[in-house]
Amino acid sequence: MPAVLRRKALLAAVPVTVTALLAGAGPAVAHGTGSAGVGDPYFPLAGNGGYEVGHYDLTLRYDTGSRRLEGRAILTARATQRLTRFDLDLKGLKVASVTVDHAKADFRRSGQELVVTPRRALRPGRAFRVTVDYHGAPKPVTDPDGSADGWIPTDDGAFVAGEPQGAMTWFPVNNHPTDKATYDFTVTVPKGRTAVANGVLLGQRTAHGRTTFRWRAAEPMAAYLATVTVGTFKVERYTTRDGVEVYNAVDPREARAAAPVLRKLPEVLAWESGLFGPYPFRAAGAIVDHAPDVGYALETQTRPLYDSAPDLATLVHESAHQWFGDSVSLTTWKDIWLNEGFATYAEWLYDEQHGGDTAQKSFDTLYARPASDELWAFPPADPGSGANIFGTPVYARGAMVLHELRRAVGDKTFLRILRAWATKHRDGHGTTAQFVKLAEATTGKRLDGLFQTWLFTEGKPRRA
Ligand code: TRP
Ligand code: ZN
Repeated sequence: MPAVLRRKALLAAVPVTVTALLAGAGPAVAHGTGSAGVGDPYFPLAGNGGYEVGHYDLTLRYDTGSRRLEGRAILTARATQRLTRFDLDLKGLKVASVTVDHAKADFRRSGQELVVTPRRALRPGRAFRVTVDYHGAPKPVTDPDGSADGWIPTDDGAFVAGEPQGAMTWFPVNNHPTDKATYDFTVTVPKGRTAVANGVLLGQRTAHGRTTFRWRAAEPMAAYLATVTVGTFKVERYTTRDGVEVYNAVDPREARAAAPVLRKLPEVLAWESGLFGPYPFRAAGAIVDHAPDVGYALETQTRPLYDSAPDLATLVHESAHQWFGDSVSLTTWKDIWLNEGFATYAEWLYDEQHGGDTAQKSFDTLYARPASDELWAFPPADPGSGANIFGTPVYARGAMVLHELRRAVGDKTFLRILRAWATKHRDGHGTTAQFVKLAEATTGKRLDGLFQTWLFTEGKPRRA
């Protein structure tokens, strides 16, 4: 076994203990209680054990004046063990009632855990439906790195972005990317405002001073990629030559700056499809909000969300995430370089093929930074804590890993690996160990030295 894989296996043993301690769990399966987390070392309470969600049907009403949300969430799930009770994640908000298969269920709140006790225990393998009625004024959650995510009120609505934790600020959820599901959204907002979610717009209707938007995300999606961003938006719709339905929503205050960049979206998606394989979803687009306090963009599935008019590099980055991060999802936040390193490398490739710097130049410029630079603060596949998952080593050194791989195997093989990754794990998950394996299997070369150095070794790597 290559050193890379061995080390990963060792570290993977840690989260189980952490979760068991926090949940006070003991032999959870024997007692039939689902655990309070899926075992993510950086976010021990994220997600829950004992069931999987197949579909979320969310019916929401948001009053942009009072900033109050009323919601009904219907989750279609399947028990993966016997369950006398199970957890959902929900932070803030007031829960009015919970039913399991139409029977009233007991529930209690404990931090971000909504603990549900169905009237009868659920047998392993059993499909069940949970309905949660809730309301309140949603607030964002503060991440370990100090940034806010989740439901972030704006002057004309809300910027709704859930990476890594924020989905639980606006709906009850199995809040971890290991559990992907399809979504239906029915969102009612004051007339004149637009609610933009993921996927395809099924319809909209205005009555009694309110407009209801119905959206469907038909491809499996991680909860952190869900959005129902609300604002005053100019809307543009068209279908690409590949039959992808595009829906762009732009805050008028950002329209002039956004227009020249958004015009390039079909071209960017076509260029990325040429490199990475077919675009993985039936819908695409952009939400360009005016949310000066947010400070980041997010690759919300099918329809990235920008806090202001993006530049072209950011559009290329969030678009590349549709393949890397959205269609192919993480199983642990520790693997975040699989998202950010790949999306950053897409920017380098775009520059290279559009008259800008070569990827080699981008690599060299970074490599010239002294050993004391934050770029070398930790290895990209081992950020050490949730506070580092959006750090420079994850993005920049993560891209450098891919460049080193490309130099080792050649351009054609490198692109074959990227395409195989997107194809093999489409609508699913991928781990760092699986990526290393795929690279070795595609090339027939041992690459453990390269990956060990660039992904896992502390400090600035010596030049190869
Ligand atoms: N994933 C986003 C991107 O790089 C960035 C992001 C999302 C982020 N949520 C965040 C960065 C919270 C810092 C904090 O495209
Ligand atoms: Zn990114």
